[in-house]
Amino acid sequence: MSASYVPRRLPHRDGQMKFLISLLGESVKHRSHLRSVQLVGGVGTGKTATAKRFGEVLRGTAEKWRNELKVAYVNLRRQGSSRFLIFNSLVEQITPGISVRGYAPEEVLNVIIKYLNSTGRFALIIVDEVDYHCKHRPREKIIYDLTRLDETSPNGYSNIIGVIFIARNPGWIEMLDEAELSTLGRIQVKFPPYSSSQMRDILFERCRVAFKPGAVSNDVIDFIADVSCSPPINGDARYALDLLLYAGTLAEQRGLDKVTAEHVRLVHSSLCPTISTEDIDSLPQSYLYVLLAVARALRNAGNPYVHFKDIQSTYNIICEYRRIRPVRDLFEVLDDLAARELITVKGFTKIGISGVTAEALLHYVDDVIRRVEEAIGDLKNK
Ligand SMILES: Nc1ncnc2c1ncn2[C@@H]1O[C@H](COP(=O)(O)OP(=O)(O)OP(=O)(O)O)[C@@H](O)[C@H]1O
Ligand SMILES: [Mg+2]
Repeated sequence: MSASYVPRRLPHRDGQMKFLISLLGESVKHRSHLRSVQLVGGVGTGKTATAKRFGEVLRGTAEKWRNELKVAYVNLRRQGSSRFLIFNSLVEQITPGISVRGYAPEEVLNVIIKYLNSTGRFALIIVDEVDYHCKHRPREKIIYDLTRLDETSPNGYSNIIGVIFIARNPGWIEMLDEAELSTLGRIQVKFPPYSSSQMRDILFERCRVAFKPGAVSNDVIDFIADVSCSPPINGDARYALDLLLYAGTLAEQRGLDKVTAEHVRLVHSSLCPTISTEDIDSLPQSYLYVLLAVARALRNAGNPYVHFKDIQSTYNIICEYRRIRPVRDLFEVLDDLAARELITVKGFTKIGISGVTAEALLHYVDDVIRRVEEAIGDLKNK
C-alpha cells in the first residue's frame, strides 16, 4: 500500500471535514467568491489526507449540481518552490493540454482563470507545506497571488472557489506581510495530535483494509498506538502506519501469518523517525541513488558524519555498478536533500542523516538503505 494512498474514512477528522464542507460546500452549487482556509497541525496529524479526501467529496457534491470541479494539489516542499513551478503545476492539473511555454507566472494564472470562466468549471487549489515555502522563499509572493484571484479576474469571479493552505507551524502567517495577511484571512482549522485511543481507531481501520482478519491482534494494535503517541513520536499517524506496515512485512518475511509485538519492537528500534516512506516515495529516482550513497558512506565510516569525497566515491561506485548516469552536480542534490530535511549538510566535511544519535546510526542507516533499495526496486518493476 503506497504512502500517498488516501483512505476513504479518516477516523477523528470528521469535525475538520464538516467545517470544510460548511465553508466551501455551497460554492460548488453556484458561482461564489474565493475563500481561503488554513489547515494547521503537527507531523502526521492528517492534514494532507483530510484535504485530499475533502477535494474528492467536494468534487462529488459539484457533480450532484451538474458542475465540474477540478482539484489541484501542489506540495511546495516536494515539487519545488518557485512561482514558475507552482503555477505550471496548477495549469497542468486544471487545464490539461493547454501549453503555457514562455508565459510569465502571472500570465499562467490568467490562463487558468480564462479557461475556468469560458468552460464554466470550478477549481479548488490545495497548497501543501506552505510554511516551508515561506521560510525558504520569502520573496515569492504566491500567497498574495493565489488569494486575490477574484480581483484580477475581469468579471470579479475567478471560478476558483477556494484555496486550502496547509502548514505545520501555526505561526507561519507571521512570516507574511500585511497585504498577504489581509487577503489570506484568518480562518484556521486545527489538527491536534492523535491520542493513543484515536490512533487505535486509525490502526484498526487500516488493518481492516490491508491485513487478513486476525493477522494483527488488539494487543499489537494497542502497542503500536502507545509507542506512536508517546515521545518522540507524539501522535504521528504516518509513523504508526509505517510501523504497522513494516511489522507486517517482517512477519511475512519470516513466514508467519501473525504480527507480534516483537516484530513491532524490532521495526520501531530501526525506523528512522526523520525519513518517512512518503519522503522516499516522493524523491525523483536520481535522488534515491544519492541518498543511498549517503547512507552507504555513513555505514562504511560508522561515524555520524562523512566527508563529501566519501559520498562522491560511494556514489560513483553505485552509478557504475547499476549503469546509471550520475547527476551533474552532486553537491547541489545533497543540498536539496538537506533542504527537504532528510540529511544534514554542514559544509563539505560534515554530511549526515538528520536527527540521529551516533549509537542509533547503524540501525537507522540500514533502515534507510533497505527502504531506498525497495523504492528503487519498485520503480524498476513499474
Ligand atoms: N484520521 C486518519 N485516518 C486514517 N489515516 C490517517 C488519518 N490521519 C492520517 N492518516 C494517514 O497517516 C499518514 C499521514 O497523514 P497526513 O499525510 O495527512 O499527515 P500531515 O498532517 O499532512 O503531516 P505532515 O505535516 O507531516 O505532512 C497518511 O498516510 C494518512 O493517510
Ligand atoms: Mg502533509
